[in-house]
Amino acid sequence: MKINDHVTWVGINDSSSKQFHGDAYRTPHGTSYNAYLIEDEKNALIDTVYSKHSHDFIEKLQNTMDIKSIDYLIIQHGEIDHTGGLMDLLEIIPDVIIYCTEECMYTIKGHYHRDFHFVLVKTGDILNLGKRKLMFFEMKMLHWPDNMMTYLLEDQLLFSSDVYSQHLDKSGHMTQQDKIDEAMKFYANIFTPFSRLYQAKIKQIKGYDLSIKTICPSHGFIWDNRDILNYYDLWSQDYQENQITILYDSYWGGTETLAKNISEGILVEDHTTIVKCFKISTCEANDLILEIFKSKAILIGSPTINNGYTSSIAALLNDIKGMRYHKKKASAFGCHGWSGEAVLQIRDFLKESGFDCLDKSLNCLWQPDESNAYEAHLFGKYIARHS
Ligand code: FEO
Repeated sequence: MKINDHVTWVGINDSSSKQFHGDAYRTPHGTSYNAYLIEDEKNALIDTVYSKHSHDFIEKLQNTMDIKSIDYLIIQHGEIDHTGGLMDLLEIIPDVIIYCTEECMYTIKGHYHRDFHFVLVKTGDILNLGKRKLMFFEMKMLHWPDNMMTYLLEDQLLFSSDVYSQHLDKSGHMTQQDKIDEAMKFYANIFTPFSRLYQAKIKQIKGYDLSIKTICPSHGFIWDNRDILNYYDLWSQDYQENQITILYDSYWGGTETLAKNISEGILVEDHTTIVKCFKISTCEANDLILEIFKSKAILIGSPTINNGYTSSIAALLNDIKGMRYHKKKASAFGCHGWSGEAVLQIRDFLKESGFDCLDKSLNCLWQPDESNAYEAHLFGKYIARHS
């Protein structure tokens, strides 16, 4: 797919893969592994693809050009969904020069246990291709230590690595809103812990006074306007919507009853708030992370089991802790039969994870009766007032 006269997308669309990062990230719309070829007096290939598509990738490249005429490989990130075609490629062009960050060199050596002809780049370094020039920008911890972006000066075209990506198979039809929604899910799950770094890095890049017309990420669709930059600006500044999310597990329905009554109480107090309620064992973890990302407050509910919370709640809390959220309110609720530790343990965990925990939580002995249901309703009203 031609992007312009001299830049060609040579990646792979994958509509069949529904999982990414092992089983950790559901990709119901598939994904694409984007690689880009820039043809000039010197030819440069930016990134490769996931190893399971390496054969198709090499074939595609062969149909596009003589692979031996590639002078430079630009590797923006060492994760194997972008370097998986490297070994097959280097069988054909073993002496090609690889431009990457120092950290990326270590990643490549760590993954493939081979040494190559590396040229290490830093922010602001320029590679001259002839009529056109590439400028590199280190993007440390966005989202690995090794990431970088590459800017094609003459075309005002930014190759952004994972930043601005969406897990979408590019060959499918998607609306602009579909693309934004998937980009948001990608941000919520991958970049949230690094939001402050993103802000600092973008400030540094703005200092170069670059005009950006087209953005070519490593997954999904190419952006032909700057809207995604505005969204990232928003998402990376303690983003929240007027949403309260209730996430719970329930063995015998008691904690679920509390969740429903809390939800009603919130809406009675403030009908403008979006309230979403999830029984987490029936949901995908990364969909829940997206909902938490959008929330101004979250409530987590669990029955007490073996003096603690359930294993599904433990897994969710583990995911939450890594996200380093800021400025979100939280509380906990749940039913118990005798000891009842889960609620306070969840509350403590959320507090340690950076949430602003409200003073009140809700603990109910045995199944909720009418009076407990009303207490949960009042708790919901309290949450609405304090979120
Ligand atoms: Fe698409 Fe961080 O790999």
